[in-house]
Amino acid sequence: MSTLDPDRLPHHVAIIPDGNGRWAEKRGLSRMEGHRRGTETVQEVVRAAHELGIRELTLYAWSQENWGRPTVEVNAIMRLLHRYLRKHADELVENGIRLETLGRIQELPGSVRRELERVQRRTEGFNEMRLNMALSYSGRTEIVDAVRRIARAIESGQLEPEAIDEKTIGANLYAPESTEPDLLIRTGAEHRVSNYLLWQLAYTELYFSEALWPDFSKADLVAALREFQGRERRFGRTAKQLRAEP
Ligand code: FPP
Repeated sequence: MSTLDPDRLPHHVAIIPDGNGRWAEKRGLSRMEGHRRGTETVQEVVRAAHELGIRELTLYAWSQENWGRPTVEVNAIMRLLHRYLRKHADELVENGIRLETLGRIQELPGSVRRELERVQRRTEGFNEMRLNMALSYSGRTEIVDAVRRIARAIESGQLEPEAIDEKTIGANLYAPESTEPDLLIRTGAEHRVSNYLLWQLAYTELYFSEALWPDFSKADLVAALREFQGRERRFGRTAKQLRAEP
């Protein structure tokens, strides 16, 4: 940890936690056991990110495509999500961590929605760290929903088509006050973005970990942050231009 430069930490880390199923199958356990362990890892990583000084963390907890999984697995994960929220709400409150969501939250079971709303109310206004849970989320659907909102604003005469710019799109995403991720970590040895934060990832640094999500530890998070600190982010400019800046 001492090898991290506190002045060059990413502000916002996004994570695709992958590999729960494979972790379980390798051990002859049920996939549900992998998800249960994966939920514990979620809390360990939230805690570690907070301790390390990360200000915003966005977790891809449930994608729109995940609804296509076997019903028994979908139901088990919804129960785990409900239990996670009940079990860890106090810790979020104690640490000043604000919970936010992004996705088509209306598609989640009522019991999960109510629990999410309760934790969001309890953590409203906290600013130690912001924890965004992407739930029933799809990056393409997020853009579709933003376009619909913008179209409605044009239809009602509140907006001129010529006035639309990148800020207009950003302001109509699910979590407009969220920042763009500096670093995306995907676990489980898959090298894909899988419909995650498609608009927001434009200049995000990508990091792929071989660890299956239940095995992902604070040390793995630190390794990702260290690699991030060694990268040069040029945002389309040349290295020479960047070095010339104060
Ligand atoms: C990834 O592993 C897991 C999912 C896509 C869904 C479940 C996510 C969690 C349990 C963590 C989210 C957090 C909470 C709080 C519930 P996979 O099943 O795709 O693994 P595989 O690729 O090895 O099959």
